[in-house]
Amino acid sequence: MTYHFETRCIHGDRCLDKDHPYGAVSTPIFQTATFIHPGPGQSTGYDYTRVNNPTRDELEKTVSSLEHAYDTMACTNGMAAIGLCLEFFFPGDHIICTEDLYGGSVRMFDNAKKQRGLSFTYVDTADEALVEQQITEHTKAIYIETPSNPTMRVTDLRAMRRLADRYGLYLIVDNTFLTPYLQKPIDLGADMVIHSGTKYLGGHNDTLAGFLCVKTPELSETARFYFKTNGCCLSPFDSFLILRGIKTLPVRMDRQQSNAQKIAQWLKEQEKVEQVYYTGLPEHPGYEINKAQARGAGAMISFRVKDAQAAKCTLEKVQLISFAESLGGVETLLTYPTMQTHGDVPAEVKERLGITDDFLRLSVGIEDVDDLIADLAQALE
Ligand SMILES: Cc1ncc(COP(=O)(O)O)c(C=O)c1O
Repeated sequence: MTYHFETRCIHGDRCLDKDHPYGAVSTPIFQTATFIHPGPGQSTGYDYTRVNNPTRDELEKTVSSLEHAYDTMACTNGMAAIGLCLEFFFPGDHIICTEDLYGGSVRMFDNAKKQRGLSFTYVDTADEALVEQQITEHTKAIYIETPSNPTMRVTDLRAMRRLADRYGLYLIVDNTFLTPYLQKPIDLGADMVIHSGTKYLGGHNDTLAGFLCVKTPELSETARFYFKTNGCCLSPFDSFLILRGIKTLPVRMDRQQSNAQKIAQWLKEQEKVEQVYYTGLPEHPGYEINKAQARGAGAMISFRVKDAQAAKCTLEKVQLISFAESLGGVETLLTYPTMQTHGDVPAEVKERLGITDDFLRLSVGIEDVDDLIADLAQALE
């Protein structure tokens, strides 16, 4: 029997297996570097924690179950998972990316271009024809964030799959913003899914983690080889923390999303707010596509105020809301993308994408929504 998503968040696929040592209800932290062999050529199934560990295994199986993946590698953070994914590519290979990716991904790709001879083209992947125009004989993959970070552009994943099939490309999706609770990229055609587990999966702004989920045994074999070779594995303790976070993912997501919907509506009505970017607003250009491929709009909102001065003033005046980088946790955070998450993106690119000094990004938490709105109201004054 397959249990529902919410149940699998709590019990993983082991819903009926109650075989933890001493009847422990939560997965024990196997804080060990190595495992005793019963005899030559024999193994308990675990040999050395860089390769596998029971606590991390439970986490990886849980994330695979939630993402409908064949296998998942739990990495030290999201960037490590993206680095692992890049191991699939060789000098000369070309990758087409969503143009407003997380700034850290752009930094890593710039470096991979200089040091490893990969090439990257950034386009508005919401425009299928534009993506197709960029495909060359060297193109190996399409790399998507939807909604994108931070301007919330929505890409039609089914359309990207059609292109990937036509040209024999991998489709890779960073699903950090919506999580498998709201969007399942593998069901929509992705070959690989990436997460910063630091965000919604962990959910408490207290642990870094990353995931590379793969669709097939062949992809798993390659990814596992680099995983054990590079040594980017998540520790047993952090695996435990993320497992604990995932147990409440659906309830947190529901609350964060309903708070975000109310805040986006409220922001829209404020004189001091010039523009609101939230895929849950019907006037958002990606509203219909997001609705067709995801169960919700999530809890990330970007908005534009009058000018840089107004943006800085808002950041200084928030009290309950924290001016901090990151997203997805129970605490509401306000970020200044131009200086923080996208600080390393060249100025002309930020200008073109609209990541300017009047642009703010809000990760909505689970506090009382009226308290959040009151804080924003006084900060925008
Ligand atoms: C969409 C997205 N992907 C990947 C990352 C990188 O994750 P981490 O900070 O866990 O390395 C981030 C971090 O903010 C992100 O927002």
